[in-house]
Amino acid sequence: MNDMLKTTPDFSIGAAAALLSEHYGLSGTLSPLASERDQNFKVETSDGAFILKIVNAAEPEVESDFQTALLAHVTAHAGDLPVPHIRPTLSGTSLGHTTSPHGLDHRIRLVGWVVGQPLAETGRSDAALESLGRMLGRFDAALKGFMHPGALRDLDWDIRKAGRSAERLQHVASAEDRALLERFLKRFASLAPRLATLRAAVIHNDANDWNVLVDSADHDRISGLIDFGDALHAPVIAEVAIAAAYAGLDHADPIGAAAAIVRGFHAEYPLLEEEIDLLYDLIAMRLVTSVTISASRRSHTEDNPYLAISERPAWTLLRKLDRMNPRFATAILRKACGFEAAPGAHAVADWIAKNRKSLAPLLERPAATYPAALVPYGDPTHPMTVKSAAEQPGEAQAIWEDYCRDTGIALGIGPFGEARTVYAGDMFVSRFIENTRRTHHLGLDLFMPAGTKVFTPLPATVVSVEIEQDPLGYGCLIALRHEPEGCPPFVSLWGHLAHEAMQRLKAGDRLDAGALVGEMGAPAENGGWAPHLHLQLSTDTNLSATEILGVGEPRYLDVWAELFPDARTFAGIAEEFYQRQGRSHDEIVKLRHELLLPNLSISYDKPIKFVRGEGVWLIDDSGRAYLDCFNNVCHIGHAHPTVVEAMAKQAATLNTNTRYLHDNIVAYAERLTATLPKELTVAGFVNSGSEANSLALRMMRAHTGRENAIVLDWSYHGTTQELIDISPYKFRRKGGKGPKPHIHVATIPDSYHAPEDWPVEEHGKRFAESVAELIAAMRAKGEAPGFFIAESIPSVAGQVFLPDGYLKEVYRMVREAGGVCIADEVQVGFGRVGSHWWAFETQGIVPDIITMGKPIGDGHPLAAVVTTREVTDSFNNGMEYFNTFGGNPVSCAVGLAVLDVIESQDLRGNALAIGNHLMDAFRDMQKRYEVIGEVRGLGLFLGIELVSDRRTKAPATDFARAASNGARRRGVLMGTEGPHDNVLKMRPPMIFSKRDADHLIAVLEETFADVTRTLG
Ligand SMILES: Cc1ncc(COP(=O)(O)O)c(C=O)c1O
Repeated sequence: MNDMLKTTPDFSIGAAAALLSEHYGLSGTLSPLASERDQNFKVETSDGAFILKIVNAAEPEVESDFQTALLAHVTAHAGDLPVPHIRPTLSGTSLGHTTSPHGLDHRIRLVGWVVGQPLAETGRSDAALESLGRMLGRFDAALKGFMHPGALRDLDWDIRKAGRSAERLQHVASAEDRALLERFLKRFASLAPRLATLRAAVIHNDANDWNVLVDSADHDRISGLIDFGDALHAPVIAEVAIAAAYAGLDHADPIGAAAAIVRGFHAEYPLLEEEIDLLYDLIAMRLVTSVTISASRRSHTEDNPYLAISERPAWTLLRKLDRMNPRFATAILRKACGFEAAPGAHAVADWIAKNRKSLAPLLERPAATYPAALVPYGDPTHPMTVKSAAEQPGEAQAIWEDYCRDTGIALGIGPFGEARTVYAGDMFVSRFIENTRRTHHLGLDLFMPAGTKVFTPLPATVVSVEIEQDPLGYGCLIALRHEPEGCPPFVSLWGHLAHEAMQRLKAGDRLDAGALVGEMGAPAENGGWAPHLHLQLSTDTNLSATEILGVGEPRYLDVWAELFPDARTFAGIAEEFYQRQGRSHDEIVKLRHELLLPNLSISYDKPIKFVRGEGVWLIDDSGRAYLDCFNNVCHIGHAHPTVVEAMAKQAATLNTNTRYLHDNIVAYAERLTATLPKELTVAGFVNSGSEANSLALRMMRAHTGRENAIVLDWSYHGTTQELIDISPYKFRRKGGKGPKPHIHVATIPDSYHAPEDWPVEEHGKRFAESVAELIAAMRAKGEAPGFFIAESIPSVAGQVFLPDGYLKEVYRMVREAGGVCIADEVQVGFGRVGSHWWAFETQGIVPDIITMGKPIGDGHPLAAVVTTREVTDSFNNGMEYFNTFGGNPVSCAVGLAVLDVIESQDLRGNALAIGNHLMDAFRDMQKRYEVIGEVRGLGLFLGIELVSDRRTKAPATDFARAASNGARRRGVLMGTEGPHDNVLKMRPPMIFSKRDADHLIAVLEETFADVTRTLG
């Protein structure tokens, strides 16, 4: 130091002016600038302003050469960067030489004056810091290809040498402070090997806020970078770390400041994840270096109070950094660069979204099936929030329970990301941002009564089971690790549980999907809250259960959202819960009245607005999922992906009519007829069951030339007038005009209501006598039947299974009388009965015409008639049969897809197995509930007839209605049928699983118990 002082240049202003003129041919006004080691003059000339530097004679040549070469490189390759650009001497060199009056050799350099105000004097807005990051990024990018021997310096300020701070610890007086520094030094020692492998290049290495200039007119814009005295070859990330360390001094949000810098730098000079991952520690180590160098200097000089003052911000920042979770700080910095807050975070969220349908229910039943409402913690004035914030969980719980009782709500949801005022304690003070509290909920709360069991949706390994004692803490807290195939591992956190889990589970235990995790705890056990589960996911598997941040700062919500993705999908909550779309129920009802036919009916007193269908589920506009056991149109499940894909693909390719050749129609006809007896070979495609039946009637007329119809009582065959005419269910009820003369109604062959003295084995024959009588009556008038039409299992009549031999007998009689036999399979076809493709097959007959609809297209309007060659020949009388939409390529593609799925997934086998399971359960219920008169079913076509007296079989219509409504309230859809509306009717999709069936059984049980209680 002393040597340097002796060699410090002391040229007069006049001598300096002479040097300027001699070496640069410039003249102007010179004014001296402060410099510790060199002599600097600001020079104002007509060519602009410059700095003339006369270098200390003792400075090694390689150092001034290095700085000069560095600036020359920047000038050559990034001339627009606002750094001091070198003005060459008259002889074209970057450095000049002169000899002082003392006979010492000095190098001289003239550089352009960089305009601006030091950042130290202006505010460090986020924009200014991002601009600084950009400036450093551009500067370092310009230096990528630059190297110089002088860059390989041994400097304590080299981040790689930060470990040397350990040797200076002795100069730090306080043991506590030393311990603080040691913690950072220890972390640094473990990451130093990684640091050694990072990209290195020449960097500025000292972007403190005196070396950074700001545009005086716009303090958000960095206008210059100066002082290259500490430049060296070092890891590139050190540039960012150093700037961030200075930017964080006295900053309310030092990681936010670092994030702004790194964001700017990354935009100009893309950083690597492994670089960002070390940034938090490198920021700290710059400060550790700084405070230990100061301490060491202080110990060598007189106690200098100024030094202590200038160190204080660095110490304060170190203490702040020490209180932070480094993984969270790193997450913020990663996110600032556009990297995932935790590696794999997106993949976890994507995997859960993609596999959500295969997750086991987290509650006893899928969470979306419970009527749910938001818990009012987002409303600071709500009494429940007020009580919770005041740590009065009992009162808060009572408010919630009253609300649930009044509204029928069973599940309270506290959403991810909600701003809440309930977090009043000290533990919710931010460790990142001064004077800020953590207010935003990062978990998903599910409020249900204490004791409600919760189950893991995925297989898991128990990471930890512990009790957090703090008031407003988690109470019993469990962390599980999940490692599903094809997904990065992640953790689920289960808080506020009952303590019973402590005895049952321990770290390392394996849980299967659907296994019990715990029970929602009462306030005494759960940290003092109204009973609920705090469920949270963490994509950072290194965090311990108590490190996982349950509540976070809003500023970093985007970071927390990746570290702790919203658990809604994992928990099985439907998206629609969070966002209601479209018109309100009342508005739609009103518009229906104004705009639509008034005879359209709406199911239920309180109508449902469904917005999505998925497999066996229908989801309403509030996100509630209903188990669809009624709608047999979506035969293989709502929105079946195979069907949707086939439809979309064909629709995107071609849709025309049958007047052009296309593969689909013949392929479909081949496949469809292959499921039928060999006599039924010719298909006609239409768009609805009604059209199918109408076409069947045209065929019948062409074949027989007759009109006389024999129909079963209480049957329904379609909506056109000629079909209403053959549907007693319509013409005998409101608005109906009774049977037309050619309509002959046969008794419904309902074995359950057969006269008691009929032997069961004769039911078929005995009921067929009704048809015989009708034919005889026609014959007496010189007439004969044109046709007999019946559903193979009459449905609206109350899921009536025809007695054995019935159709055989009837078909024989009708055919003998010259009529044709039509089987309406619009409801019951396509394998629903499981044992056969077609329900008529259970009767051992072959119809002349079969009509199909509803399930054929899984919701797409498609229907068909299949008949014999004989009938077809009669129908082919010269008149063209054209149906604009019938048999179009899209419809046929859909039909093919439905057949593919039924066959490839053996859905007939499934229907039979699940149907048998349901029948067993219903029969078991029949033993316990007098009201169940008869259980009927085959495959997934099921009915339960309810009677108020098993002997008289008097219909229990009220019970049936109450049961259907009760099931709906519990989220299961079914209907009532039969002349007295006393038959519960179920036709669930063919993909109905054992779990779905058990859900239905459990709901029926609950409902029957409830209705029995209330109706007596
Ligand atoms: C047995 C039966 N046949 C025919 C139809 C008429 O079908 P669509 O409504 O498709 O015209 C129905 C409709 O409910 C039906 O149940």
